[in-house]
Amino acid sequence: MPQKSREPRSSAPVPKYPSAGSLAVSSRPRLFIGFRGEGQQRAAEIASRLAARQMSGRALSAAGLVKGCHMHKVAVIVGSIRKDSINKKLAGALAKLAEGKLAFDYVKIDDLPLFNQDNETSPTPEVTRNKAQIAAADGLLFLTPEHNRSIPAAMKNAIDWATRPHGTSAFRGKPGAIIGASRGGIATAIAQSHLRVILAGHLVATLGTPEAHVQFKDGLIDDSGNVTDETTKKFLQGFVDNFVKLVAAIAR
Ligand SMILES: Cc1cc2nc3c(=O)[nH]c(=O)nc-3n(C[C@H](O)[C@H](O)[C@H](O)COP(=O)(O)O)c2cc1C
Repeated sequence: MPQKSREPRSSAPVPKYPSAGSLAVSSRPRLFIGFRGEGQQRAAEIASRLAARQMSGRALSAAGLVKGCHMHKVAVIVGSIRKDSINKKLAGALAKLAEGKLAFDYVKIDDLPLFNQDNETSPTPEVTRNKAQIAAADGLLFLTPEHNRSIPAAMKNAIDWATRPHGTSAFRGKPGAIIGASRGGIATAIAQSHLRVILAGHLVATLGTPEAHVQFKDGLIDDSGNVTDETTKKFLQGFVDNFVKLVAAIAR
């Protein structure tokens, strides 16, 4: 499809950024079978959480607290900070396809200062928040737009903070996946390739296949985060499922 000269706005809601740890309480996977031993404790935890926080069944599932779930938490970094971002919409759709398999923990990147190495040892609370959130995750999911044939400045800024000072990278050794949406024909391929090189420098094991360059069209993802095109949905489900396997293979 030819690249459009304008960027039409969409009325679809964007995913909210839950605060770090609002859904998941630990970075460890959970497997609950029956209600003996640990299962019994978890049942009590579920009951007390329900009472204290009035968490919905969906939130409990996302937190990995539902019997039978084996859920890993992934830090989700969307490289666009604009309200109607198509990459945020894509994140919402992936969260839906990953329901019951991965707990998405969105990393907020629009309140970070511009990276300055002079300040890397005296980070702002927002920087510290992000590093802790990323460090607590079992995996990393990056959704990148392409800006001038590379990743957006906001995403690079977030990566620079998360990986400094030298030797303290919050990314180190984690499994990761990269995906991106653009209205253009080559759909973020170059930005993704740049990002893969950056992450390799932090020993992030990125999902090799499938490469996911999503050419976005209006209506591709509906207001509830459903992918409306069956072929794209199947493809994205495969991407999610491969990432689930990669995270399970690497995360403890
Ligand atoms: C500064 C800038 C540079 C861009 N460069 C590219 C580009 O190199 N390749 C591309 O496919 N789209 C490019 N675009 C278009 C983006 O893909 C489009 O704005 C897309 O909607 C961004 O994703 P978002 O909606 O998640 O912010 C650019 C947009 C901006 C604002």
